[in-house]
Amino acid sequence: MGKNLVLGIESSCDETAVAVVENGQKVLASEVASQMDLHSRYGGVVPEVASRVHLESLPLLLQEVLAQSQTHYDDLTGIAVTSAPGLIGALLVGLSTAKGLAFRLHLPLATVHHIEAHLYAAQLDAAPVEFPALGLAVSGGHTELYHMEDWGRYRLLASTRDDAAGEAFDKVAKLMGLGYPGGPMIEKLAKACPDSGDHFPFSKMKDKSLDFSFSGLKTAVMLEVKRNPPKGEQDLQRLAAKFQNTVREEITSRVHAFLVGLKPKSLVAGGGVACNQDLRDALRKEAESFGAVLRVPPPKYCSDNAAMVAGLGAYQLAQGRKAALSATAHPQASFY
Ligand code: KG4
Ligand code: ZN
Repeated sequence: MGKNLVLGIESSCDETAVAVVENGQKVLASEVASQMDLHSRYGGVVPEVASRVHLESLPLLLQEVLAQSQTHYDDLTGIAVTSAPGLIGALLVGLSTAKGLAFRLHLPLATVHHIEAHLYAAQLDAAPVEFPALGLAVSGGHTELYHMEDWGRYRLLASTRDDAAGEAFDKVAKLMGLGYPGGPMIEKLAKACPDSGDHFPFSKMKDKSLDFSFSGLKTAVMLEVKRNPPKGEQDLQRLAAKFQNTVREEITSRVHAFLVGLKPKSLVAGGGVACNQDLRDALRKEAESFGAVLRVPPPKYCSDNAAMVAGLGAYQLAQGRKAALSATAHPQASFY
């Protein structure tokens, strides 16, 4: 890959993010403006509000990131943007901005899949990932495992039949009377019960597939909360640990099964739930027991950011995968 400077834009959900990445891997600047406080009072993301706030935040973030990275618009060699999946209005704000920049600056445009970018984040400010790899995407909307032969060459191995892992964290946090997003709050509570081996029943597919399912777990927590309403901090901590243990085991048991079958060189993990230290520790143990390397980015590149978008966009452009200026956004789309 020749020297290039790609500007990335991410606006698929409730984070507005802009970044500049050099040669697809070195992050020169990456800023995220979270709308979390705005949405938390509604217990989830309000799409209309998200779009309007992206519109306000993007120009300011662009200026800030260019200043931080000491980059001028003329130095850029490409523009990358998330075009799928996500909230359609939110995606369109980022895509329109990216198209305007690409058009005005005569730069190539790369449209990027958000989940593929979460996996690509593994090589930001780090060595290239060694393939073949087992890929785990765990976010608010996705829980998927892939066989990765290279960037752009994937096979879906397992996905969730109902809720995603992050969605389960968020719904359970709501049941427990905590705020949004649930992941960080549940993790904090669970940390106070480090040795709890307690867990809820594990899901089992009737057809013996290794797909995920988290809706039964959510119901199990709901019944437990109804039967035994948490009376204080300690009860909440125990419940959080019991839930987190179950999610960790649901994920690592499937990772284990695919590591046995595929014997990859790397285990690549990404997405907001991969911020969870308990899960990271368990994944590292699994990978190492198979002689594979765990490639999980630091938390700032696990949760939504634009460095992953700029990085993957740079890779796509280097491969000649330039998007047309007529490109559109897709609320749901796959990349494998
Ligand atoms: O990747 P992400 O930032 O946005 C999506 O693409 O969905 O993931 C957000 C999800 C939320 O469901 C949030 O609760 C979860 O990631 N999350 C966590 C943690 N931090 C964020 N889940 C568990 N433990 C965490 N520390
Ligand atoms: Zn995400």
